[in-house]
Amino acid sequence: MPSEETCAWSQALSYLGAFTAVYITVRLGYKILRGLRVHLLSEVWRKDVRSYGQWAVVTGATSGIGKAYAQELAKRGLDVVLISRKQELLENVAKEIEEMYGGKTKIIQADFNKGPEIYEPIKSGLKDLNIGILVNNVGMMFSHNRARFLDTVGIEEKIPHIINCNMLSLTKMTQIVLPGMVKRKRGAVINISSEAGAHPTPLFNVYSSTKAYVSFFSKALEAEYRNLGITVQCVAPLLVSTKMVEYKKPSLMVKTAEDFAREAVNTIGLTSSTNGCLSHSIQSFVCELLAPEWLRLSDYSVNQILKTAVKQ
Ligand SMILES: NC(=O)c1ccc[n+]([C@@H]2O[C@H](COP(=O)([O-])OP(=O)(O)OC[C@H]3O[C@@H](n4cnc5c(N)ncnc54)[C@H](OP(=O)(O)O)[C@@H]3O)[C@@H](O)[C@H]2O)c1
Repeated sequence: MPSEETCAWSQALSYLGAFTAVYITVRLGYKILRGLRVHLLSEVWRKDVRSYGQWAVVTGATSGIGKAYAQELAKRGLDVVLISRKQELLENVAKEIEEMYGGKTKIIQADFNKGPEIYEPIKSGLKDLNIGILVNNVGMMFSHNRARFLDTVGIEEKIPHIINCNMLSLTKMTQIVLPGMVKRKRGAVINISSEAGAHPTPLFNVYSSTKAYVSFFSKALEAEYRNLGITVQCVAPLLVSTKMVEYKKPSLMVKTAEDFAREAVNTIGLTSSTNGCLSHSIQSFVCELLAPEWLRLSDYSVNQILKTAVKQ
């Protein structure tokens, strides 16, 4: 016969078990319902991006995700400012957008690998525009081959470049554009991070760390400016077929830049933090379950990745 004390313990444990099961079910259910709202219902029920203002500004807008965002926002009726470092490409993309969607464009040439000196001309170029959406997209990798920090080719110049391009750029662009948004009490700042910024990622160390900055900056900024009518959204894609990832073949897991931008723009105003599209949200969720942080940071994982990196 179990003692009274044993019975009390087993009853307490069964309450705890039931509570945990309900908690997990409710959390999972909420996540699934939110996912459906943000990624599926938003195909037909979403915010009109024109309500934020007349112009969108996109950094790194001549190819990949940035170009696709610029095209998608133009398609939905916004005029677009394109900022990138190659004048000829800027002119081509601007012409393409005007011909396809009929809106206005403006181009600003800037190299975001450089320091604070590039921002005064950008500020002058944006003066007096009613900017509704800022897409802080520009970004670079630290190394295309996965490598230990010190084994990065060209490390000396890459350190300032990646800090300027991935972190200084969105901080300064936000400083330039946000005052107008605050004055008009509306606007959206979209910051492109990466799934690599959600977890410390060995052998993508510096890139992952700069993207963690993007994510932290966005979340804190959202808390500071939400009540002033400003939307801040952090977008953390997984693989998108662009120059940055050597145009990996598009598939269920690897999105084309155009599909990614279309789905991501649907989510503006619906969530402050997203992987951008349904496929990437599911992949992120599954990775979280199957590869917890202790496993990603283990010697075993690092050695396995190094082995495949050497083979490539
Ligand atoms: N593709 C992915 O799988 C993936 C996944 C997660 C996150 N992301 C993030 O998404 C963003 C866009 O990536 P992407 O894949 O679209 O890259 P991408 O194909 O390499 O395009 C980057 C764009 O930025 C411009 N750019 C690059 N460096 C610049 C600089 N120093 N100054 C001015 N413009 C510059 C490029 O123009 P140029 O012709 O001048 O180089 C190009 O227009 C990045 O922040 C990246 O970290 C991408």
